Amino acid sequence: MFRSHTCGELRIENVNSEVTLAGWVQTVRKFGSITFLDLRDRYGITQVVINEQLNDQLNENPLGREFVLQVKGKVIERSNKNPAMDTGDIEIEVKEFSILNKSAVPPFTIQDDTDGGDDIRMKYRFLDLRRNAVKKNLELRYAVNRSTRNYLHEKGFMDIETPFLIKSTPEGARDFVVPSRMNQGQFYALPQSPQTFKQLLMVSGYDRYYQIVKCFRDEDLRADRQPEFTQIDCEMSFVEQEDILNMFEGLIKQIFKDVKGIDYTDKVERMTWEDAMWQYGNDKPDIRFGMKICTIKKPESVYATKSDQNELIADAGFVVFDSAESVLAIPVQGGAAFTRKQLDELTEWVKRPQIGMKGLAYIRYNEDGSLKSSIDKFYAEDRLKQIAEAAGAKQGDIVMILAGAEERTRKATSELRLELGEQLGLRKKEELKLLWVLDFPLFEYSEDDNRWVARHHPFTSPKPDQIKTMIDNNPKIIDAANYLSHPYAQIKANAYDMVLNGNEIGGGSIRIYQRELQEKMFSALGMSDEEALHKFGFLLGAFEYGAPPHGGIAFGFDRLCSILGGSESIRDFIAFPKNNSGRDVMLDAPSSIDDIQLKELSIDIKKKE
Ligand code: AMO
Repeated sequence: MFRSHTCGELRIENVNSEVTLAGWVQTVRKFGSITFLDLRDRYGITQVVINEQLNDQLNENPLGREFVLQVKGKVIERSNKNPAMDTGDIEIEVKEFSILNKSAVPPFTIQDDTDGGDDIRMKYRFLDLRRNAVKKNLELRYAVNRSTRNYLHEKGFMDIETPFLIKSTPEGARDFVVPSRMNQGQFYALPQSPQTFKQLLMVSGYDRYYQIVKCFRDEDLRADRQPEFTQIDCEMSFVEQEDILNMFEGLIKQIFKDVKGIDYTDKVERMTWEDAMWQYGNDKPDIRFGMKICTIKKPESVYATKSDQNELIADAGFVVFDSAESVLAIPVQGGAAFTRKQLDELTEWVKRPQIGMKGLAYIRYNEDGSLKSSIDKFYAEDRLKQIAEAAGAKQGDIVMILAGAEERTRKATSELRLELGEQLGLRKKEELKLLWVLDFPLFEYSEDDNRWVARHHPFTSPKPDQIKTMIDNNPKIIDAANYLSHPYAQIKANAYDMVLNGNEIGGGSIRIYQRELQEKMFSALGMSDEEALHKFGFLLGAFEYGAPPHGGIAFGFDRLCSILGGSESIRDFIAFPKNNSGRDVMLDAPSSIDDIQLKELSIDIKKKE
């Protein structure tokens, strides 16, 4: 028997038991002739005492960090108990020990606060994974996995695997491709998601499908993106948007409960895409705090259903505002107390290339009701007050104002809002706030190609009352300078995103299920009939054999875990992640392959010039 107990198991009740433990040596401390060890395994740490009668053996076989050890001995009560440890009341008085395996000196300490930098920890990820902090993250990941499976199983969903070697149909991100030896000169692609397969499963009548599945996307990486990541991928037949929203807010609530013990009783808020952009400047607003954007000025063509308050700033001869396409403001509660230095820092912050603004104007609405502003040369105090109040500021607040091109300024204002929220402590990790964003535009205009691209993916259906607009209009006749006036610009999708604390954790749609509409969609995206058939003939064909109305969603599993675990980076929740250049530094992948392999595949590598 290797062990009678784990290193996390023994308590005061076990005193006097004879036990055998096995694990890794976390630390070795010598006090005179006595040696204390912390022995660690997956379940915890137990203190072990080696008395002087075993010193000869110890001297012959010195112990070091991360040695794998088996100890036999008696559980005794500790004189100096450690309440911070589960096993802190006891220790093991060792009678025998044997070294099961030695260890080289690890390149960093295997502790919560490790001295290892990111690169070294990734190179030795198998050691990093021994650390409690990382183990906790993987435990959380497994808990989310279990909770998901339980919920979906309860609801009648069936886990069905779909292939990884599929056909390249890039849309959105780039595909990773795999050369085929048996079909020389041809390539498989790794799926960006099982989208078309899950739709085919609906055509096959499986009704409720799910899969916790790897997806592969060759795109630029960020803290919340990996080239291979995991989705909770789901699809349902005979459903409307409302059915999907209910089913999957149920899933997320169940996960909150199982994993965090949180009863999310609030109604999950819903917001249209247009309102999200209008009020928060992005399509995944963090609604844990207010500070909504006030649009003082905007171009007529964008957000056509909303009106600005341009009269507040017009006719003052302030060229920055007069020449700007858009002028946007946000109120900051209590911001009147900001110092000159803080305002200078924020100004520098918005001027950074990532934000790209020329400057930051402010109106300070003092506690005594007076107003002080960086633009008071141009606007009298009563006008400043009108602007401040229109932006929702009260006495004691400050209003931040950005001006410039609409898209950039709205994005910058959104970023500034998030930064201020962060600085003011309004984005509390422990507070979880869910939101559905609905009614996305079906199409986005691509200036580069002068055509429409699918905002979600080409299988998303338009709102039922806009199908006719889609069928009746020619998507190819676009006046580039005035693309917003094309009827396609106004078509809304039957699509939804779930947002948690300002992160998009999931997205999906009600699908197109008629061949004619799907063909129209492909053609709207600039595909010829032949191209559509070549890429998606299987799906178009399937739609001719009784495809049911269907829809679904996919959640970013890694992202969900990282938010629940309170971390910015999804890498912390993936056992073997890639770095920001898409490399696995432990395996040293990607790497070249040998000439025989290349020859078998008939691939010549062109030397870089
Ligand atoms: P979508 O592309 O929106 O939808 O992806 C769904 C969710 O997956 C997560 N995600 C990522 N996570 C980590 N790294 C990445 N590179 C990455 N890309 C996306 C996000 C996102 O919300 N087939 C559709 C779903 C559907 O329509 O049912 C799809 O893949 O959290």
